[in-house]
Amino acid sequence: MATPHLITTHRIAEATAPVGRSFTIINTLKLDAKTELDALERGLLAPAASIPPKFFYDAIGSTLYNAIVLTPEYYPTRTEAAIFEKYRSEIAAVIGTGKQFVDLGSGDSVKAEAWFARLKPSRYVAVDISETAAQEALARLAGNADAPELAGLITDFSRVLDVTSVMSKEPTLFVYPGSSIGNFLPDEALWFLKQIRAHCETAGSGLLIGVDAKKDATRLDAAYDDALGVTAAFNLNTLRHVNQLLGTDFNVRDWQHRGFYNVALGRIEMHVEARCDVTVRIRGAARRFTRGERIHTENSYKYSPAQFRAILLEAGFTEPQLWQDEQKDFNVFYAKA
Ligand code: AVJ
Repeated sequence: MATPHLITTHRIAEATAPVGRSFTIINTLKLDAKTELDALERGLLAPAASIPPKFFYDAIGSTLYNAIVLTPEYYPTRTEAAIFEKYRSEIAAVIGTGKQFVDLGSGDSVKAEAWFARLKPSRYVAVDISETAAQEALARLAGNADAPELAGLITDFSRVLDVTSVMSKEPTLFVYPGSSIGNFLPDEALWFLKQIRAHCETAGSGLLIGVDAKKDATRLDAAYDDALGVTAAFNLNTLRHVNQLLGTDFNVRDWQHRGFYNVALGRIEMHVEARCDVTVRIRGAARRFTRGERIHTENSYKYSPAQFRAILLEAGFTEPQLWQDEQKDFNVFYAKA
């Protein structure tokens, strides 16, 4: 069945875009809203309650995430940035220039833009769940006289990755930074990489991906439970967001943040935990949570280089190359299709 699309063409004002670049954003998200909310309700009513991590990212949540990456404990973002800085020309030489750049989870597009001078992409495709983020980012890029051709796709690729509507047939570089792959269960991560691989029909395509490494549990625990409580606020904010979306009556003060490394499963788990017995109204139903009961809000899997290399190969990629920081805290891979 063909997916219906909402298409918005943005013509950028002369003043902000002297080159008169315009871009089109296709939004396949709004049409899924009802299914999304039904799934959210089911997750809350299930015996082991959960809220998918994408519900962190409303306006407050996105702002809190930008603050998390500034905390001293949360090392992944700044470590990845340092690897990109240090090895940018070497990585770019492996990738090659003039490709279509498909940015998965583009956000403000700042990470992507840092590659433009070296990679000279023919096109830039911003793929994100937030239309405002992508729209603002593309509008900013459009103001640059030597910006590549621009396009946007608003979609929830945690469900299915379909970028065919915005891609050209050129060789494509997929970029998936920040270790967001860690939010998937390992089986889902493999499926997601296979979907990227399936979009690499044209010779010369490949994937640049950032993946957090396994490390000492003490450091991981601290990274997901920082002293200032920014991660706690980020995690608890999901309850506010759910109240807005579903009309539930979560009282944030009844809940506390839990974020810890599960060594056996090789993943960070985040939960919100009831501080007392509480009853929450969820649409027609009343859901009782007993004191200490948790709602699982996120997994963040950590991969050793060998583990992730094996997954890339199993997904059909070849010749994976690895760059790391000196402490080997974070992995950056480029793999050919
Ligand atoms: C955006 C998914 C990469 O898993 O480290 C940060 C989200 N959660 N602190 C991560 C997150 C808690 C982050 N990712």
